[in-house]
Amino acid sequence: MPTPLIAPSLLSADFANLQRDVEAVNNSQADWFHIDIMDGLFVPNLSYGVPVVKAIAKYAQKPLDVHLMIVDPDRYIQTFAELGSANLTVHLEACKHLHRSLQAIKLFGMKAGVALNPHSSVHLLQDCIADIDLVCLMGVNPGFGGQSFIQNTLNKTRQLKEMILRSNSSALIEIDGGVGTTNAKELVEAGADVLVAGSAVFNSPSIPDSVLALKNI
Ligand code: DX5
Ligand code: ZN
Repeated sequence: MPTPLIAPSLLSADFANLQRDVEAVNNSQADWFHIDIMDGLFVPNLSYGVPVVKAIAKYAQKPLDVHLMIVDPDRYIQTFAELGSANLTVHLEACKHLHRSLQAIKLFGMKAGVALNPHSSVHLLQDCIADIDLVCLMGVNPGFGGQSFIQNTLNKTRQLKEMILRSNSSALIEIDGGVGTTNAKELVEAGADVLVAGSAVFNSPSIPDSVLALKNI
């Protein structure tokens, strides 16, 4: 079984000790920092914005994997490129012209990601899978950390893996929401390449140990 990339979601970090938690992730086996941006419109919650991401970027020693849960995300592509994001993921449900958004993200030198809400079929990506670097399958309805995993995400992971292989695409499959040591193994077996984990990493006694537990499943 391949070893998954692990992307701790800072949404569950201790914001009063953000530098400490960023450094703990730096000193762990984690691969990316997962950064959740929420606007209170696309999802019923606000997270944090540009000044906080700037502060994170100052200390982060691993690539920033930014997940935009905002309406009309094209407005912020340049901003997140300037903040040093490696990956920029937009929601299929938030884009009028997804193909154009993907091209714009790549033009700014970032990897282009598309996130799918639990209700969106992976088949909606059939005609642009060749243009996608990363597909983020939501394991929960986006907006909050600590929710329970929606089991159908496993079927979606298998279907997406098949589509990627069939299309000769090099897109990575990322699973976001409700991921922990109880489901990590079956997700990787189903085709997941990247596991995002918020509460499983930060609501634990040791950040490096919980990252390692997910990596070594
Ligand atoms: C949910 C966010 C996730 C969230 C995951 O809207 O996109 O990244 O932080 O948190 P857990 O791992 O606790 O489900
Ligand atoms: Zn996320």
